[in-house]
Amino acid sequence: MKNLADRTQGFGNSIFGVMSKMATEHNAINLAQGFPDFDGPEFLKEYALDSIKAGENQYAAYPGLRILREKVSQKYQREYSANFDIDNEITITNGATEGIYLTINALINPGDEVVMFEPVYDSYVNSIKMAGGIPKAVTLKGKGFNFDESECEEAFSSKTKLVILNTPHNPTGKIFSKEEMQFIIDLALKHDAYIMSDEVYEYLVFDGKKHISLCEFNEVRERSIIISSAGKTFGMTGWKIGWVLTTPEITNEIRKVHQYVTFSIATPFQVAVARALDHIDEYKKEFLNLYEQKRNRFVKGLKEIGFDFEAPSGTYFILVPIKSFTDKDDVEFAKELIKKYQVASIPPSAFYLKSDEGKNYLRLCFAKKDETIDAAIKNLQALKSL
Ligand SMILES: Cc1ncc(COP(=O)(O)O)c(C=O)c1O
Repeated sequence: MKNLADRTQGFGNSIFGVMSKMATEHNAINLAQGFPDFDGPEFLKEYALDSIKAGENQYAAYPGLRILREKVSQKYQREYSANFDIDNEITITNGATEGIYLTINALINPGDEVVMFEPVYDSYVNSIKMAGGIPKAVTLKGKGFNFDESECEEAFSSKTKLVILNTPHNPTGKIFSKEEMQFIIDLALKHDAYIMSDEVYEYLVFDGKKHISLCEFNEVRERSIIISSAGKTFGMTGWKIGWVLTTPEITNEIRKVHQYVTFSIATPFQVAVARALDHIDEYKKEFLNLYEQKRNRFVKGLKEIGFDFEAPSGTYFILVPIKSFTDKDDVEFAKELIKKYQVASIPPSAFYLKSDEGKNYLRLCFAKKDETIDAAIKNLQALKSL
């Protein structure tokens, strides 16, 4: 038999699958999975059911339903004073994940370099490799997960085609400041690179802090790609609805790829999200309060056990340092937590391309019912005696 394609040979099994399988085998509390263990809002479900019953069940237009693109455009105008043309600058995708894949494939030629900040969301790296690009990582370090400016400068070169931002950042919970974003933007301008900003946690920004969107930087409007996710925002990750906002030229290329990868996205869910975006202003306050309470509950419990970290400013993840409890690396310690204490986490070393930093941490997700958080904290109390 002839060989299968070389392109996918380097891809291992995702760490999420490995940990989730082990969690099930040991009946562990699953803080590994990056999604809520409770349902999203009732009104959204009603909207989807209304749409299905109204017969809106055939293929949607491939750029996405116009009504949804219109509501997305209005949202960015209201929240960030940014203008995106409904017809030529907005594409609805199968979650943010497809948007990331389309953007990378629309921009990257073999040999092009892509700068990103590690720990990285894993889909970036594999999408870059599929396109023949070369990932270049800058490591976020220390309690505040900051980057070293000279390391960042060194990651850029004449070969840099794209820099990927993710703010709020999974898994550190870091929010990139305006100054940090400006520093990265200046480097992108200097090296004539595009900038993709993955903002799927745009509404999960705690302690009264503010999310800064890439679309607020007009000077890079013609080289910016902004991605977000209704699945994340509305706590319905299984709906897989996202969008990509960018110039007509890049949109055109993105849609060419989209046309042959998924063609179009489930119609009734698009209708439901379009209607839900009319209530986003009230909804996002409730959403933030709910998650801020969960973050506080979880942070308090983890600190009482002895974990030493700064509470994350955004997302629903915490990256906790483990070295005060173990000499083991993240993968071994994550396995031990499942087997001995029935708590599943993600060992983040898989999210680092060049540094060993990941071996010192575990990623925990607090998008969970209060009773799930409390049960995990109860099980982890045993670590106090180590
Ligand atoms: C940083 C980041 N980007 C993108 C995604 C994927 O979003 P979606 O479910 O809309 O594809 C996730 C999901 O965990 C994420 O954490």
